[in-house]
Amino acid sequence: MSSATEPLPGTSDFWEPEVLEWRKLEATARDIFARYGYTELRVPVFERTEVFVRGLGNETDVVQKEMYTFQDRGGRSLTLRPEGTAGVMRAIANRGLATGEECRVFYMGPMFRGERPAQGRRRQFHQVGCEAVGCSSPWMDAEVIAMLVHFLDELGLKGARVRINSRGLPADRPAVAEALRAYFQPHLAEMCEDCRRRFDTNVWRMLDCKVAACHALAENAPRITDLLGDESKAFFASVCAGLDALGVPYELDPRLVRGLDYYVHTVFELTHSGLGAQNAIAGGGRYELQLPGLRNPIPGVGFAAGMERLLIVRDALGVTPPPAPVPKVYLASLGDAALAFNTSFAAKLRHAGISAAIDYDAKSMKSQMRAADRMKAEYVIVIGDSELEAQSAKLKHMADGREIEVKLSLDGVLAALAADAETK
Ligand code: HAM
Repeated sequence: MSSATEPLPGTSDFWEPEVLEWRKLEATARDIFARYGYTELRVPVFERTEVFVRGLGNETDVVQKEMYTFQDRGGRSLTLRPEGTAGVMRAIANRGLATGEECRVFYMGPMFRGERPAQGRRRQFHQVGCEAVGCSSPWMDAEVIAMLVHFLDELGLKGARVRINSRGLPADRPAVAEALRAYFQPHLAEMCEDCRRRFDTNVWRMLDCKVAACHALAENAPRITDLLGDESKAFFASVCAGLDALGVPYELDPRLVRGLDYYVHTVFELTHSGLGAQNAIAGGGRYELQLPGLRNPIPGVGFAAGMERLLIVRDALGVTPPPAPVPKVYLASLGDAALAFNTSFAAKLRHAGISAAIDYDAKSMKSQMRAADRMKAEYVIVIGDSELEAQSAKLKHMADGREIEVKLSLDGVLAALAADAETK
């Protein structure tokens, strides 16, 4: 290994058996989300920069500091997607939604943010997310959160905390912003540079600053939900009632605002102690997303979970990883004629659905058996001149040393494997 072959900071290569965990995660997502009527959507990993600037909001940390933006040869400004929602909404808008039509999609794949790399904080990370577009009922917000919890349960990730809050409707915003400014104004000198900037540009974000002094002040800030209008309060109450009806435990967090500006009404975040400092495993909410070239924003509700973070929590909880696949049969060869036979016999087995292995470099029988052990092959067949002549050989079960006489044909070996599986 040298620095020239290492992946860039904040990016990773994934190998088996870790990849098996990813596949399990992906399969579970597909299974669970399909039960709720979501279909899979795959969108490009880069978009026109405007899609994210308009979609996420110019004042968000993601847009201000974290996007991988570049010019293509035609001089267009493009950006590697820092999250999934904006691109997914662009795709849905491009297809066109008849008025009143609903669309529910899920997606998974790499996202890119230029953050300082740490455990659970990557520059290329992966999200699995869902978006429900075209339904304005608070029951949908509750169902989306319940579906996320269901997904985590299915993965064996017990112990996640669901925190929810409401940002209300855009019409409520001026009153909330005014109350927050009145509260923070006398303390500005004690706050970080980002917060002093946010005071003018996006005072809501002062509530979720991670700097200790700012965080302590935010603890005593006015509660957003107290300042909202009646319609927003009623909507939020219905979301909570929906969660109660679905049996999803949650905590009210009056200071949760989330980092993206497209949210209206419900916002939520799921945290887990197994993650340490980067403790958000998933987040989402109801939104109205602006896209370049569209007069009206697109309304929806959804979430995204960080796949690396889900796997860190799985690890911390000691959830048993899926078993690594092993060769069913290892074919050992005594001599050149046997090697030629085994090479084509292995191909026949593989075409018949049986995983078969040969170590072409291992010459002696001892080193071939060592290879079979290393690969954890379930059975070994040793073929030499006498087996070829007799057209029969011994199928050895590696775990208990049992030997079964088999005819040296595809049907003979398949029948022996099937019969042996029956006896277990
Ligand atoms: P987000 O909170 O920015 O929301 O990201 C969702 C999740 O992605 C986080 O909870 C975290 O698990 C993971 N994540 C974010 N940044 C990183 C990183 N640098 N390294 C590793 N994991 C990370 C969104 O992206 C919204 N699009 C969610 C949404 C969907 N809202 C509505 N619909």
